[in-house]
Amino acid sequence: MNAPLIDPFARAITYLRVSVTDRCDFRCAYCMTEHMTFLPKAELLSLEELDRLCSTFIRLGVRKLRITGGEPLVRKDIMTFFRAMARHVSSGALEELTVTTNGSQLRKYAAELAACGVRRINVSLDTLDEAKFAEITRWGRLNQVLDGIRAAKEAGLRVKINAVALKGFNEDELFALTDWCAAENHDLTFIEVMPMGELETATRLDQYWSLKDLRARLESRFTLIDLTERSGGPARYVRLAETGQKIGFITPLTHNFCESCNRVRVTCTGELFQCLGQEEKADLRAPLRASSEDAALEQAIRAAIARKPKGHDFDYSRQKVAGQMTRHMSHTGG
Ligand code: GTP
Ligand code: 5AD
Ligand code: SF4
Repeated sequence: MNAPLIDPFARAITYLRVSVTDRCDFRCAYCMTEHMTFLPKAELLSLEELDRLCSTFIRLGVRKLRITGGEPLVRKDIMTFFRAMARHVSSGALEELTVTTNGSQLRKYAAELAACGVRRINVSLDTLDEAKFAEITRWGRLNQVLDGIRAAKEAGLRVKINAVALKGFNEDELFALTDWCAAENHDLTFIEVMPMGELETATRLDQYWSLKDLRARLESRFTLIDLTERSGGPARYVRLAETGQKIGFITPLTHNFCESCNRVRVTCTGELFQCLGQEEKADLRAPLRASSEDAALEQAIRAAIARKPKGHDFDYSRQKVAGQMTRHMSHTGG
């Protein structure tokens, strides 16, 4: 009954990413269009249903739970859900309860997150320039995010900054971002832009800055020491000898990491996506609502994992975009 979740490629699924809302208070240009249509609230799983869903995955061997969005902290009463998940941290069933956030609501919630057993969070921040930040997020204010990050630190949370590497946008801030993270003692991870959803203004090829190139530029100033340690996600890490800080690289385009995939995603309506880079999905809402027993839900989860694809087909190497997804990143939270 409680056999672990193993996919057809012998990968154990121990990491669940749950998108609790598709809404966001920002409109990042590489993530969303300016006029997104969001799901009607009636479609959403309730917080109690999300609890049951996550608890079932945990019973089936999930050890790491990451709450994503949209922006997860804009979902109404989201702390009720975190408080519920805290019991899995205190029981030891969950090794890690984490959040990926744009940082806008951290001043309000950081202390409560820490009290719920969250120890580290990932904050998306692509630039330290106020005007550029306003441009890329369309609706965001840099000061609010920086203040949120300060609040997280005050609450004792470890912060990892996620920066999407964007050609012609933050290339000139590579060292500024690195130096700021060193000074503030934040980890920093760079991410290659993935072809998730249609954009209004640019093509992915226009945006794409390969981490091979980024890494070479870092090497012009620092000595990079490859680390074998992992955070459970797809990043590979180095330490900069000169500063001691840790830098991560998430390289879906230049170096595929699918062979070590350990995760699936569930959306706020109970869709299970087996792979970020494939359209295939399974519905968990119907089995969840069909019965208050978890047997049908468990069967649906196992059936979905038995169909997990080998990996994504993202590719820009022929000067055109291959493997593009119809859905935006905000649908699954990455
Ligand atoms: P850590 O626990 O800190 O390792 O987090 P993480 O890297 O798993 O999560 P985060 O939410 O910070 O995601 C950072 C970036 O990695 C986002 O752009 C995600 O879309 C991307 N990412 C996470 N998992 C996958 C994956 O399975 N495949 C691909 N292609 N990208 C992923
Ligand atoms: N490619 C890569 N990363 C993206 N993100 C959003 N859209 C994309 C994309 N198309 C990032 C966000 C956040 C994380 C969840 O995914 O900046 O850090
Ligand atoms: Fe896993 Fe798919 Fe991501 Fe590859 S793209 S690491 S298979 S979820």
